[in-house]
Amino acid sequence: MAILERSEWYDVARDTNWTPSYVKEEELFPDQMTGGLGVSRDKWKSYDEPYKTSYPEYVKIQREKDSAAYSVKAALDRSQMIETADPGWASILKSHYGAIALGEYAAMSAEARMARFGMAPGMRNMATFGMMDENRHAQLQLYFPHEHCSKDRQFDWAQKAYHTNEWAAIAARHAFDDLFLSRDATSIAVMLTFAFETGFTNMQFLGLAADAAEAGDYTFSSLISSIQTDESRHAQIGGPALQVLIENGKKEEAERLVYMGIARAWRIFGVLTGPAMDYYTPLSHRKQSFKEFMQEWIVGQFERSLIELGLDLPWYWDQMIAEFDYQHHAYHLGVWFWRPTVWWNPAAGVTPDDRDWLEEKYPGWNDTFGKCWDVIIDNILAGRHEKTLPETLPIVCNMSQLPICAIPGNGWNVRDYPAEYQGRTYHFNSEIDRWVFQQDPVRYRDHMSIVDRMLAGLIQPPDLGGALKYMNIAPGECGEDAHKYAWAEAYRANPYAKKAA
Ligand SMILES: [Fe+2]
Ligand SMILES: [Fe+2]
Repeated sequence: MAILERSEWYDVARDTNWTPSYVKEEELFPDQMTGGLGVSRDKWKSYDEPYKTSYPEYVKIQREKDSAAYSVKAALDRSQMIETADPGWASILKSHYGAIALGEYAAMSAEARMARFGMAPGMRNMATFGMMDENRHAQLQLYFPHEHCSKDRQFDWAQKAYHTNEWAAIAARHAFDDLFLSRDATSIAVMLTFAFETGFTNMQFLGLAADAAEAGDYTFSSLISSIQTDESRHAQIGGPALQVLIENGKKEEAERLVYMGIARAWRIFGVLTGPAMDYYTPLSHRKQSFKEFMQEWIVGQFERSLIELGLDLPWYWDQMIAEFDYQHHAYHLGVWFWRPTVWWNPAAGVTPDDRDWLEEKYPGWNDTFGKCWDVIIDNILAGRHEKTLPETLPIVCNMSQLPICAIPGNGWNVRDYPAEYQGRTYHFNSEIDRWVFQQDPVRYRDHMSIVDRMLAGLIQPPDLGGALKYMNIAPGECGEDAHKYAWAEAYRANPYAKKAA
């Protein structure tokens, strides 16, 4: 029996749009769940998914990908890569697994919503595969760190992080709940697949895959490359959805979703990928600076796809690009200082050689961030470690849930961007975060940041010890300096290595 080519039957087979007879169409596809913005299902027929696959093809390829990733892991299990790698590398793995593994699980839920409530058959089809992709990603990224748990409890946070009130976990949940767990199918297509996955997961996954290979961690490199091949497929769900919205007079609504999505994704990657690329990755293994990566993958990529779709660049575009110069340095300084409150060991990444690199990639670094590190270095060399540790919590942004921070030293630009709503004052890191809040205050108004919780008496006693208890960080899990301050010794030998003017 002759077998037809996929292209000969695909369009007919994937068209599951039938006319309901037991229920009304709006009961089967309620606006609240579809987010179709009143564009009729008829109009959604023009949705054309750029990536077409069938179930047998999908299963065959995924099976091969899974067996490749698991075999690399099995082959290298005894290599003791983690034990012998630079401690900064282990910190990247821990922060990545904790922040991402269960986020994949949330993404599976989001794909499931598109699989059920997507307005177009092609969208539902792709999302069905996307749902299985995300399930695979969650499983892989829970399984791979598991073997390290017996030696290092911080790896247990791959599983644990999202079940705690640890501050970075709150930030990740707040963003992911907003971008994809609590949205309708169309908004998910735009905010998760277009805004978040097209640009930002590309960066986390491609960027880290390159760094992992450089660092000799082939297990992690093959794991995340394997995941990335799925991402690059299902990230294409959003583009055609945007086209349908634009063709049917919903350009403004579409832009709003894109802008909110990019704004939120940028913060998460600023705190997660920024320190990993510019500080935790050993200098000799760094390929590109975080800023260079952002310019190539985010600015280049988004500008191209936004322009191709006929969308305008976000109003905050230049401001976001300006933040590439400093925001992740500020987050890194904060994460290192508040290191007992994270589940990984932050690598300071500021040896004299590191500083030369930072100054070259970010001119002026020594006069701004370098000044803060100089104080820390003085305290470490004088044995005053307690002065390099926090006693309480920083002020946190009510949108990103990350510390409000910017440039210190010469060039100081730290300020709060407050907003009043129904008698409560909210605090934001920038006009961008405040703008997101103002798009839908009812959605965000009741959330309490970790600092709001402390002020409301939910964290007892209201000090670092109480905060660690509240965040469920057990002894042995608290972050500490990844290199046990060994990096600071170079300054004892050569105090003039500090470059601040
Ligand atoms: Fe994923
Ligand atoms: Fe994904």
